[in-house]
Amino acid sequence: MTHFQQARWNEPPIWEVRLPDAVTGTEQGEIPAALRRKTPFRWPAPTELEVARHYTRLSQMNFSIETGIYPLGSCTMKYNPRINEILARDPLIAGTHPNQPEETVQGTLEMLYRLEEALGKITGLPNVSLQPAAGAHGEFTALLVARAHFRRKGEPRTEVILPDTAHGTNPASSSMAGFTSREIPSLNGCVDLPALTDALSDKTAVFMLTNPNTAGLFEEDVLEIADRVHSHGALLYYDGANMNAIVGKTSPGKMGFDLAHLNLHKTFSTPHGGGGPGAAALCVTDALAEYLPVPRLVKEGRKFRWTYDLPHSIGKVRSFYGNTGMDLRAYAYITAHGEDGLRRSSERAVLNSNYLAHRLGKYLPRPFKPLVKHEFVLSGKPLHDRGLRTLDLAKRLLDDGVHAPTVYFPSLVEESLMVEPPETEPKSSLDAFYDIFVRALNDPDERIRTAPRNLSVARVDEVAAAKNLKLSWRDLERSP
Ligand SMILES: Cc1ncc(COP(=O)(O)O)c(C=O)c1O
Repeated sequence: MTHFQQARWNEPPIWEVRLPDAVTGTEQGEIPAALRRKTPFRWPAPTELEVARHYTRLSQMNFSIETGIYPLGSCTMKYNPRINEILARDPLIAGTHPNQPEETVQGTLEMLYRLEEALGKITGLPNVSLQPAAGAHGEFTALLVARAHFRRKGEPRTEVILPDTAHGTNPASSSMAGFTSREIPSLNGCVDLPALTDALSDKTAVFMLTNPNTAGLFEEDVLEIADRVHSHGALLYYDGANMNAIVGKTSPGKMGFDLAHLNLHKTFSTPHGGGGPGAAALCVTDALAEYLPVPRLVKEGRKFRWTYDLPHSIGKVRSFYGNTGMDLRAYAYITAHGEDGLRRSSERAVLNSNYLAHRLGKYLPRPFKPLVKHEFVLSGKPLHDRGLRTLDLAKRLLDDGVHAPTVYFPSLVEESLMVEPPETEPKSSLDAFYDIFVRALNDPDERIRTAPRNLSVARVDEVAAAKNLKLSWRDLERSP
């Protein structure tokens, strides 16, 4: 804590923070009687060295991007450059209080303003709000904007159309914003244009699309899609979770989208894995700018300030300005790379993905067209034919120090397995992943079925883990 804060907020210095009193259970009404403590908890009193060893050991039991390839790429687990952390932890920034008067945080406001400008340029949608706390929240905010837009026009549009490849958060956001979701089937992994045309009507408010989509395929009909959606007076929404495949190559604005969210914790390298906090931006066309959440950041001369003077705004969707620490990390990433660097990152993500797809495609079928963007889908059908499941293979990879790729998504592919090799991975680590993958596939069935064997916990019963919070790790372990 800085002296400034101690003087200003009159709080005890951080080293005097006291642990809470031991909970006896008597005041914990919601905890079932059988689970309450009978005797006060005794806090352990380890030495500093014991604590250091404990946490080092725990960290070694875990997977991390620093210990090996994490094939969940854009989707949360790419490398977070240390420069971002160094900047965000500067006490002058980390110690800022969101209630500080605007004149004392001009630097932070300028950084947010510049980030909005950069994201507006990257998306081709120049009006930006940094309030949403994550991608799903960005979707929800966008749909509230769409709702406000149609209400103002006096058009009672009630439907949101989604392809069956949509991420689960899309229909959830649609219902939360008060729309009815209508799913359309895809054809060879992409939007089926005739199905979209059939579904569009004067009830359609928004068509939500991820491009490249969740199967890693670029929707090549996107301009035609935009025309058809707009010809019905509806809006086209860009789910930007896969934006890291196209930065600097094209943009949602060029493709005809009206609104887009960006997950800063995916494309722009802010940390998210392990629970966040996330951060997202909502970017919209000029026609929709008046509905964005308040407050909005404005520049007057050389000064920055927040304005609430937007009568048609949907209001606030989050406290204060959003996750400013995350915004700073994204800003650092963008400025450190520059336009060229960002474009090369996208090219690298796509190259990595196609390289591995091509090599692994010799072992497991690839259901869609050969050229993909930043991620690709394999079908685990040959495993199924051996009496195994994709899940077994994912567990087997853990034994060789590789975090499992996404399994069973997208669900339109039988026993699907989706690999996202991030742009930060060198060719040597892609080759190492390939070797481990192929070795695992060639293992005897029983070895795959009973994996993992080399970790601190064996196969856990994931359903029980999700449903029964009272179980311990040991209870969850399924005997191999
Ligand atoms: C395609 C897609 N859309 C939306 C989301 C939701 O983003 P978030 O996890 O930031 O809420 C994700 C997250 O994985 C995603 O992959």
